[in-house]
Amino acid sequence: MSLLNVKDLQAGYGKVQVLFNGHIKVEPGELVGIVGPNGAGKSTFLGAIAGAVKASHGTIEFGGESIRSKNPEDIVRLGLALVPEGRAIFTDLTVNENLRLGLTGRREKSGAQKAIEEVIDLFPVLTTHRSHQAGLLSGGQQQQLAIARALVSEPKLLMLDEPSLGLSPTVIQDVFGVLNRIQDQGTAIIVVEQRAHLVMSIAARTLVIREGHVRATLLREDAQDEARLAAAYFGTGEDLE
Ligand SMILES: Nc1ncnc2c1ncn2[C@@H]1O[C@H](COP(=O)(O)OP(=O)(O)OP(=O)(O)O)[C@@H](O)[C@H]1O
Ligand SMILES: [Mg+2]
Repeated sequence: MSLLNVKDLQAGYGKVQVLFNGHIKVEPGELVGIVGPNGAGKSTFLGAIAGAVKASHGTIEFGGESIRSKNPEDIVRLGLALVPEGRAIFTDLTVNENLRLGLTGRREKSGAQKAIEEVIDLFPVLTTHRSHQAGLLSGGQQQQLAIARALVSEPKLLMLDEPSLGLSPTVIQDVFGVLNRIQDQGTAIIVVEQRAHLVMSIAARTLVIREGHVRATLLREDAQDEARLAAAYFGTGEDLE
C-alpha cells in the first residue's frame, strides 16, 4: 500500500477549475518532485491534498484512509504536513515560538520538547537564533524555520512548495541538503519546484504538471536529456503519459 495515493483529482477556486487531472503515488520514505510552468496548478495540487483547497472530484488516500473531506488540521495530525509557498512563518514571534506552533500538529502529545530539540539538530543555524524574532532571519533561515516547524509535527509525508524561491544558490544547497537528511530519517517528501534540474538532482521521480494535468513522469537520468526535458516541460513533444 502506498503512503499517498491520489487519483483523478480536480480542484479550483469558485467556478474556475484549475486542476483537471492530479494524480500521484508516494511510497514511505520516497522523495518525489513536481515541476511545471507558472500557473500550471502545482500549488493548487498540494493545497488540495493538504485540505486547504477544496477538491471537487477524485480520491486522496493517505495511509490507506480517505482524507478528501478532512480539514487541514486533522490531515496534519494524520502525518501529512505542507510548507506553503512563501514560507508562512510568524515574523513577530521568536524562532522558538514558531517551532512550538508546529506542536499543534502532533499526534502524540508527549515528547514535545524532545521533538523540537531533534528538529533543531537538523538546522544548526536556527539554534543560535532561538530567542530572536523570526522576521529578522535571512530568507534562507526563514525557509529552514518553516521546514523545521512542519517537522515538529513528525510528518510521515512532508510537502514543500518551492522551497528555493528567492534563495541564493549556496543557500539552496543547504536547504536541499537538509531535505536529503530528512529523507534519510524515513520521511517521505514531495517538492514542488520551477527549476527542473534542481529537483531532479534529489528526486527519483519528478512529475510534470501543465495546465492542470499531470503530463509526464521524469526519471533522474532524464535530467541529462535536454530535449526530453523541454518537451515535457513546455509540451512541445508528445505527452509522456
Ligand atoms: N486563491 C486563488 N483564487 C483564485 N484563483 C487562484 C487562487 N490561487 C491560484 N489561482 C489560480 O489558479 C491557477 C493555478 O495557480 P497555482 O498557484 O496552483 O499555480 P502554480 O503552478 O503553483 O504556479 P506558480 O509556479 O506561479 O507558483 C492560476 O491561474 C491562478 O491564478
Ligand atoms: Mg505555486
